[in-house]
Amino acid sequence: MQDAGVDIRVLVPGEAGKVHRLMSDTITSGYADFYSPSDVSYYESVLDGTGVILGAFVQDNLVGYAVLEFSGIGDDNFGYLVDVPKHEYLRVALLAGCMVDPVYRGRGIQSALIYARMREAVAYGCRYFFATVHAQNERSASNLQKAGLRVVAKDLQVPWGTRDIWFIEHKSDVV
Ligand SMILES: CC(C)(COP(=O)(O)OP(=O)(O)OC[C@H]1O[C@@H](n2cnc3c(N)ncnc32)[C@H](O)[C@@H]1OP(=O)(O)O)[C@@H](O)C(=O)NCCC(=O)NCCS
Repeated sequence: MQDAGVDIRVLVPGEAGKVHRLMSDTITSGYADFYSPSDVSYYESVLDGTGVILGAFVQDNLVGYAVLEFSGIGDDNFGYLVDVPKHEYLRVALLAGCMVDPVYRGRGIQSALIYARMREAVAYGCRYFFATVHAQNERSASNLQKAGLRVVAKDLQVPWGTRDIWFIEHKSDVV
């Protein structure tokens, strides 16, 4: 990524506590207006295999993370919004929660985590990418737009609030 000194890697089971700590410290300090918090059990279950979490590290410190979920075949798969055929539902991925330590913001870490998640998802055979973003979250919107996503639904009610839904289809294996 553009900022030398920031390393991005896939987190492993056992690192859920770090993710939860960064999330709850940031929320407590008032730097996460548009973020719906999760319990540590959510990050544990993702790291145990329901998805992937990418971490951004400076030296050994976690300064950002981003969750990749595989949407599965249930009704909560956003594929219906853009007519993804049902036989392709297992190729749908959700760019879920992302958080960057306030001290490290504005260095391109969220952007790097968007591309890193898409590359990781492509490696699992995914082709369709969604993200849910608060309408006033201009930073996230700007980064998703730069990565080629576009809004396909506005003000949708999802379990974590009212969100705009962003989407891109990758027609090749290269992100
Ligand atoms: C949103 C968040 C992840 C961004 O992280 P980040 O690493 O600082 O983001 P980046 O450095 O990759 O990019 C920030 C971009 O927003 C732009 N930006 C900054 N302030 C902005 C504003 N008020 N309006 C529009 N764009 C803005 C920056 O210029 C930058 O774009 P650029 O690279 O073209 O200059 C971080 O602010 C955060 O953790 N927020 C709280 C949790 C959250 O909202 N998570 C996302 C949920 S979808």
